[in-house]
Amino acid sequence: MARHLITSAIPYINGIKHLGNLVGSQLPADLYARYLRGRGHDVLFLCATDEHGTPAELAAAKAGQPVADYCAEMHAVQAGIARGFGLSFDHFGRSSSPQNARLTQYFAGRLNDQGLIREVTEEQVYSVTDGRFLPDRYIEGTCPNCGFESARGDQCDNCTKQLDPTDLINPHSTISGATDLEVRPTKHLYLEQSKLKGKLADWIDSKGDWPILTTSIAKKWLNDGDGLQDRGITRDLHWGVPVQDGDKPWPGMEGKVFYVWFDAPIEYIACAQEWVDAGKGSNWESWWRTDKGADDVRYTQFMGKDNVPFHTLSFPVTIMGADDNWKLVDYIKSFNYLNYDGGQFSTSRGRGVFMDQALEILPADYWRWWLLSHAPESSDAEFTWESFTQDVNKDLADVLGNFVSRITKFCRAKFGDAVPAGGEEGGAEAALTEELTRRLKTYESHMDAIEVRKAAAELRAIWVAGNEYLQATAPWTTFKTDPDQAAAQVRIGLNLVRLYAILSAPFIPEAARAMRDAMKVDHAAWPDDIATSLHALPAGHAFDVPENLFRKITEAERDDWAARFAGVRT
Ligand code: 2FM
Ligand code: ZN
Repeated sequence: MARHLITSAIPYINGIKHLGNLVGSQLPADLYARYLRGRGHDVLFLCATDEHGTPAELAAAKAGQPVADYCAEMHAVQAGIARGFGLSFDHFGRSSSPQNARLTQYFAGRLNDQGLIREVTEEQVYSVTDGRFLPDRYIEGTCPNCGFESARGDQCDNCTKQLDPTDLINPHSTISGATDLEVRPTKHLYLEQSKLKGKLADWIDSKGDWPILTTSIAKKWLNDGDGLQDRGITRDLHWGVPVQDGDKPWPGMEGKVFYVWFDAPIEYIACAQEWVDAGKGSNWESWWRTDKGADDVRYTQFMGKDNVPFHTLSFPVTIMGADDNWKLVDYIKSFNYLNYDGGQFSTSRGRGVFMDQALEILPADYWRWWLLSHAPESSDAEFTWESFTQDVNKDLADVLGNFVSRITKFCRAKFGDAVPAGGEEGGAEAALTEELTRRLKTYESHMDAIEVRKAAAELRAIWVAGNEYLQATAPWTTFKTDPDQAAAQVRIGLNLVRLYAILSAPFIPEAARAMRDAMKVDHAAWPDDIATSLHALPAGHAFDVPENLFRKITEAERDDWAARFAGVRT
């Protein structure tokens, strides 16, 4: 039994995530966690909400709520939706937790002790009306390059020129519209990442087994991007982790907080502590400290490609720089983007299907199956209602659902509600056993390698093999001349339902549960050997005919949803 620590990129607190976010981190992480648990490993699967930063403050202000209340409410909303999708986190934490505040302050202090922090005085735009410094993207004005009137302080969206807020003509605050902006000096802490460049490069080079997407982004940022310039890790905001040097004040930094991207990944660690403090586990350090047992832990992170630089460069710098036996990630699985019907999913513009809406129209398994079997691994992928309808109807209703319903109903009609006795197996069963043995190995190797699409394709092939077996042996025909022989075929068919319940659980946990319940199986260990598992349910074992596992999506529904989600959610 191995120990696996798994984290999914932690979603921002403001707003509900869309299906593209889901398939880029939380969902594949859940697939892997469920698979490893199914195989008997010790898994700690963590996620949380990413609660600090200006967007959270502004969203709270818009909702007319204190930011802490807003975050508490939105955390509960996101946790509920995660449950709805069957995301099996061992803990769903909060980056605003006291555990994270302490750890973030500890890391900053530790990095300071290691000589990796320097103080820098910067000139920044201060809005007198708003009573605060403004992050660059909350300042707008006319672009000096192209004359576009809504250019942001960091970049002009019209001509793409990178800008400084002071370049803008007639700048104003997008928070209040105020124009009484001043440039004022302010002091910040910079993490001297550049000092660790060599160490980081060696570490990334040692990860020859990482997905190309992950290493190519990491190397690009390391070598020719701005990725390893020293970076500011503090901000002039109220909402965030107060800047401290461990548990001591940091002179000159009063009233400032750490930058959200500094404290967010530290929440991966704090979340394990929250898990223990919530009474769900013990000894979080054995997962996170190599001097306390985490040496034998394999740590896998899941994220969309936009998050890769932070996880391959910035967070590892925090861990390495602290030089205090913290565990580095072993494997980073990253994803491209899922597009929506000819364009992009967009949270800010409300385009696409959001997690809450998805659950309102269909159960989680339908979404899980489609999203995972189309995971944007080697390139961007696209969600269309046509593809969704077609694949769900074919794979889930026609192949798997139909198999389960056909075999259980036929058995009940001809032999009753228990696995029938009698008959002998022959060539068809031997061929099925051989095929499934081969396919199970392939399925496992794709799951071990987190090749999500390939694993889905193999699972589908395993379902198809059962259908083909039933088609070829046709127990309904055999029954007319040789009921004993038909009994042997039905017995295999019912055992296949049990086997499918186990193998499908990582992808479609609810349906898998329904199959297991119908087969009245309490304990269903991962199969060691197909021949044995095709005989796990003995003659006389009672079962129920499950309710229809999957229904078909109609053309009318498809068209209705396509129209309903064509616009923009407000
Ligand atoms: O992109 C995002 O949604 C970020 N909130 C991810 C943070 S992951 C980590 F660093 F904690
Ligand atoms: Zn411009």
